[in-house]
Amino acid sequence: MKIPSRIITIDRTPIYVGDNALSFVDKVIRSMHLGHDGIYILVDKNTRHYCLPVLLEQSALLAGARLLEIDGGEDSKTIAMAGKLWNELLASGASRESLLVNLGGGVISDLGGFVTAGYKRGINYLNIPTTLMGQSDAAIGGKTAVNLGSIKNQIGFFHAAKSVFIFPGFLNTLPKDHMRSGMAEIIKCALVGNARLWRRIRNHPVTEILSLPVEHAFWHEMLTSTIKYKNMVVVRDYKENKLRKVLNFGHTIGHALEAYSLLDSRKPLLHGEAVAAGMICAAYLSHKKTGLMAPDMEAITTYLTDGFPAYSVDSLSMPAVMELIVHDKKRKNGHLQFTLISKPGNPVINISCDQEEILEALGFFNATLSG
Ligand SMILES: NC(=O)c1ccc[n+]([C@@H]2O[C@H](COP(=O)([O-])OP(=O)(O)OC[C@H]3O[C@@H](n4cnc5c(N)ncnc54)[C@H](O)[C@@H]3O)[C@@H](O)[C@H]2O)c1
Repeated sequence: MKIPSRIITIDRTPIYVGDNALSFVDKVIRSMHLGHDGIYILVDKNTRHYCLPVLLEQSALLAGARLLEIDGGEDSKTIAMAGKLWNELLASGASRESLLVNLGGGVISDLGGFVTAGYKRGINYLNIPTTLMGQSDAAIGGKTAVNLGSIKNQIGFFHAAKSVFIFPGFLNTLPKDHMRSGMAEIIKCALVGNARLWRRIRNHPVTEILSLPVEHAFWHEMLTSTIKYKNMVVVRDYKENKLRKVLNFGHTIGHALEAYSLLDSRKPLLHGEAVAAGMICAAYLSHKKTGLMAPDMEAITTYLTDGFPAYSVDSLSMPAVMELIVHDKKRKNGHLQFTLISKPGNPVINISCDQEEILEALGFFNATLSG
């Protein structure tokens, strides 16, 4: 099935979604009245190989752009890497009128967005997300960041892309584990904002969904519902004063597990895998604190444990994980603040949980793996 292109406006940032999304790139760049030599494309090895040729086929203006290439992966989301890119931009004469095109997943859009926010006090950029995580979440909403040591997204800016182009065809080359990782953000949006979508998703195991071609109508439904939901939230609360916190469901503990797994000897968790684990803990806390019914908690837990790789936290690791949770940014007056749900589709923000409750949630998560 062909996905029709559509424009959704997010804080004046158009989002072009669909099979012909890339055909709008030149029109948008032309409307910015830039000199052609001021255009840069940020890629990693994979997006250079798989996605750049597809983009250049659709954009004559980008043919002359300079490439900035980084090693892919979370390890690149650092201030050191941003510094390297700032030096490259400076050395090649990038000006305040230059444009950066982020072609890649969430690492590229977070890092590239961060670099543009800082370079000469802010230059324009476009996001062309190539992963499910990027297309459903990371490329939308103007949050940019790098990690500080092992703590995720500690240094960053709100700096929105001028436009976002979402071409689902890029997902055809994305490895399965990264597709699954992106599924976690789609599930999160359904759990906090779209009970109907959650009911549809829960009838199809993750492995079944991942076996569908990205052209399938169900992908279309999941992707567009998620993009629309994220757009609605960000338009209403760009700076995360209130409503936008709903998107943190599963992220407080998820970020800590993601960071911990980078220090661990086991294979590091992908962002979405960690968020899936965080959502199991959040479902437990929601049952305990905000009235989520036991059958809903069980349905969420079973769906996520069946669909995502197991990653247990043994008792020796608990203090280190807790330390990372305490460092998470969602803290107010010394209390850890959680986004929970009272039922699927009904988020509740700013719920304080103490360390004992968090340890209980991690214990529940461990038990689901062995159960
Ligand atoms: N700013 C936000 O609002 C926001 C939201 C969610 C996640 N994030 C961030 O996103 C990051 C994770 O993003 P991600 O999951 O996209 O990871 P990623 O950017 O590391 O990409 C995953 C892997 O897929 C490869 N790849 C990308 N596109 C490809 C394609 N079309 N075909 C083949 N390979 C391809 C990349 O080279 C990389 O190896 C995390 O750092 C997370 O914090 C940010």
